[in-house]
Amino acid sequence: MPSFRAPRGTRDLLPETRAGLSRLEAIARSLAARYGYREIETPLFEQTAVFERGIGEVTDVVEKELFRLAPRTEESESWALRPEATAGIVRAYVQAGMQTWPQPVKLTLAGPMFRYDRPQAGRYRQFYQWDCEAIGDPGPAVDAEMIELGWRFYAEAGVPNVQVLLNSIGDAACRPAYLETLKAYFGRHSAQLPELERRRLETNPLRLLDSKDPDMAALIAAAPKISQCLCEACETHFASVRAHLDALAVPYRLEPTLVRGLDYYARTAFEYYRSGAEGQQQALGGGGRYDGLVELLGGRATPGLGFALGLDRVLLALDDSGAAATKETTPLAVIVGADPADTTARLKVASQLRAEGLAVRAELSPRKLSRQLESAAKEHAHFAVILGDELADGHVQLKDLEAGTQRLVPIGELAKDLARAARSHHHG
Ligand code: HAM
Repeated sequence: MPSFRAPRGTRDLLPETRAGLSRLEAIARSLAARYGYREIETPLFEQTAVFERGIGEVTDVVEKELFRLAPRTEESESWALRPEATAGIVRAYVQAGMQTWPQPVKLTLAGPMFRYDRPQAGRYRQFYQWDCEAIGDPGPAVDAEMIELGWRFYAEAGVPNVQVLLNSIGDAACRPAYLETLKAYFGRHSAQLPELERRRLETNPLRLLDSKDPDMAALIAAAPKISQCLCEACETHFASVRAHLDALAVPYRLEPTLVRGLDYYARTAFEYYRSGAEGQQQALGGGGRYDGLVELLGGRATPGLGFALGLDRVLLALDDSGAAATKETTPLAVIVGADPADTTARLKVASQLRAEGLAVRAELSPRKLSRQLESAAKEHAHFAVILGDELADGHVQLKDLEAGTQRLVPIGELAKDLARAARSHHHG
């Protein structure tokens, strides 16, 4: 038993898993470029107030799950690790004066997020999101474009049967009346409410709808629906989002109980699930519109929306579905030598080939040549470059480990020769 372990709720991404994540990041990067999103990087931690104000003080993410950093001195500001990317990106939008840029400003980021969650399958304390934000466009067309972008990501990643759940949660005009209705409803059932939910009934009644407490499920299902209380402007907006999605042939299911777990949302709200796995824990990703957030964080009133896709959960879904998530690269060639002691020559040849852009491994153990060749075959290298007596007049033996053939090649042509082979065998 090793004495040190990765912290509870975190895990090492060992090479195979890391390669799977890199593949997802590459798909995300390619899609972001095609849809006109520019990459941004924000700090892994922010002033706690950015999250409290942005996400909302009475939310699970801030109340229970925020990783607060211990201040170094009495007067230090209070910091927290980012539990999501949106609040930080909007903070950067305001700070950098991006409202003077052509709108909307479309930004994307992929990286680790931190939530002090109760660890379980698909729920980690450090996890990875791909996040996209389009700030400065009131929609509704961009809402559909955003939903389609996430949907396409799953398609390109190879996650089967992803379903979009869609709702509108109203805006500052219609939500207050709905919240009163909701308060009255849950108030009538307050005896059945768990302690936390009873407290939230006063401070943030909407949060009762995304409670993970199993005792709440039946009450939530029977609660009045926001979709029946939308004002005309929200109703029209929502209808147009749906019409745009229909035009793009993105399938979705209306989900009137979907409210999302963060306070900044208004109007469009959506989540991605694998069909048959629509439980609260299993969302592959989610997002929505946050028309009040820029103003909350000190900018002038600006509409916006975005999503974050949970990449850990995509990896799990790919594992489940048996889809090959990655192909790790094997070396094109292994450099071996007839003189087991002469590691210098092997290292030198490897260095030259690497400088030419080739992926090779130098055999650095003082094993017999036959053993060196065995290990090259075992790792599925396509070629072995054998350094022997011919090196004296500038030649090496190039052995094709797959075909079992061997020929003499001038050392000056080795890189070109291997590069040609790499192209024809899709190696490297
Ligand atoms: P969220 O629903 O809190 O939204 O998180 C988005 C996704 O991140 C989830 O659907 C899930 O896949 C993944 N996720 C969340 N927590 C964990 C965890 N503990 N372990 C593994 N995966 C997790 C947001 O974060 C918003 N910022 C999305 C957004 C962007 N809205 C507008 N713009």
